[in-house]
Amino acid sequence: MTIEFRDYRPLALAQMNREHEEFANLLNEAEQALLMGRAGLPYLRRVYDHCLQHFAQEERDMEYLRFPALAAHRHEHQRILQLFTDALAGYERSGDMTGVLEFLMDTIPDWFGQHMNNYDRALSQFLVQQDQKRAH
Ligand SMILES: [Fe+2]
Ligand SMILES: [Fe+2]
Repeated sequence: MTIEFRDYRPLALAQMNREHEEFANLLNEAEQALLMGRAGLPYLRRVYDHCLQHFAQEERDMEYLRFPALAAHRHEHQRILQLFTDALAGYERSGDMTGVLEFLMDTIPDWFGQHMNNYDRALSQFLVQQDQKRAH
């Protein structure tokens, strides 16, 4: 299994945890499909689309609340999306799953662990603080 979501320390925001868990599930499904020789593209596209939507939501929140680390956080989203696009294009072009499997099993889990623990953790704490401020 690529990502065991329970191994990650939860963030302050339940909604963000739910989306990350869904991401982990989609990633694991894609990996299983590829390893079992099923057509992997629909699964991979589902992971990609989830990332697009999830990143866009985080970026909207950051823009709306003028989150100080917006630029760096967005850059990290764009960086992994570019690697994802390249891995998908390589797989579509050649039918060879080596690159895309490496991406799923190594690149994305490493990125996710780092990203969640740093960027998303800081953002979720900020969002919770903003919520508390508004409540007072
Ligand atoms: Fe993020
Ligand atoms: Fe996230």
